[in-house]
Amino acid sequence: MPSPNSSAEPPPGRGRRPATRRGGETASYERPRLRDTAGYVPGEQPAGGVKLNTNENPYPPAPAVAEALARFPIERLRRYPPPDAAPFRAAAARRHGLDPREIVATNGGDELLRLALATYVEPGDAVGIAPPTYSLYRVLIGLHGARPLELPMTEDWRIPEDFAEALNRAGARLAFLVNPHAPSGRLFDRSEVAAIAAEFEGVLLVDEAYVDFVDPALGHDLIPLVREHPNLLLLRTLSKGYSLAGLRFGYGLGPAPLLEPMRTKTRDSYNVDALAQGLAVAAIESRAWARDNWAKVRAERERLRAGLVRLGLPTLPSETNFVLARVPPGERRAEALYHALEGRDVHVRWFGEPRLADRLRISVGAPDENDRLLAALADLLSTPAPGS
Ligand SMILES: Cc1ncc(COP(=O)(O)O)c(C=O)c1O
Repeated sequence: MPSPNSSAEPPPGRGRRPATRRGGETASYERPRLRDTAGYVPGEQPAGGVKLNTNENPYPPAPAVAEALARFPIERLRRYPPPDAAPFRAAAARRHGLDPREIVATNGGDELLRLALATYVEPGDAVGIAPPTYSLYRVLIGLHGARPLELPMTEDWRIPEDFAEALNRAGARLAFLVNPHAPSGRLFDRSEVAAIAAEFEGVLLVDEAYVDFVDPALGHDLIPLVREHPNLLLLRTLSKGYSLAGLRFGYGLGPAPLLEPMRTKTRDSYNVDALAQGLAVAAIESRAWARDNWAKVRAERERLRAGLVRLGLPTLPSETNFVLARVPPGERRAEALYHALEGRDVHVRWFGEPRLADRLRISVGAPDENDRLLAALADLLSTPAPGS
């Protein structure tokens, strides 16, 4: 047993780094740019309650995914996975009528965003965004040492008319556009996106994380544009439409020469693991199951929106699996309502930022979850807020 005076610590200078500098200041090895950059704050993952805060799919993944998981040969984990996810890319190419060289598999859609910066943007370059938008864009631009060029959405949630022109004027190398838009839920049509891609001199990344929930009656499809615009990159994910947020699997669709440096240089050699690749193939081939879920989400989306409007919360039409509800008369009440819902174990999202602070973003849940949310809101809204 060590004596009371003995120390488990190695002698100074051996195997230990100083925790403090002279004067008590904590030493930091973080690079300066990082110290000044806030990280992305993901939505919380509460264990129970009604979880409508991170736009997950309320329905389970396809049975074929469960079967692929049950049958996955453990022996396969001894080996590295196919480095470029060839089986998945072949399946995705069949599904979208493209060539496998026009597809890159990524660790969630989020990895594609990071790869786009690493592939097309030098530190110091401008990268366009249209806020309010997915807040990860700004974080990743900052981490890369690039400059965010903010071209705000119009009052009625449209892309600013001079978007491409302003990007070109600033010499932007890349622009992130989310369509359908998050957090408004609005869809920009194909001709609008095509016009921007045609005018913009950099790479246009259209983030289609929520495209699976667009009403098929609209006939919306940007994939043919990939063959018409050398600078157009589409982001897809299995997190939302395929109920696989926990798997971390996304992919990019774009012209082969645009994707080539990403596939062969900036991507990690084994960026998507063997198990994820196997399950992703099963998911993307279970089209009927997925379509059925999308239809159920769309039906619930309309019912949820109607219920929110009835409660006096103006809510925009949405082509995604979430809605954005306004809480009159203003910011304080939206924030208070968010906290009150949390207190009842009903989780939605509130963003304390311009244009969003008076709103709640609510993911479309299963019917019973939406009912519980609407009931909690009805109850809370019928009670006058303290001080009002
Ligand atoms: C607009 C948008 N893009 C991309 C993603 C990335 O999703 P994932 O990394 O889960 O594929 C999300 C996730 O919430 C999102 O909201």
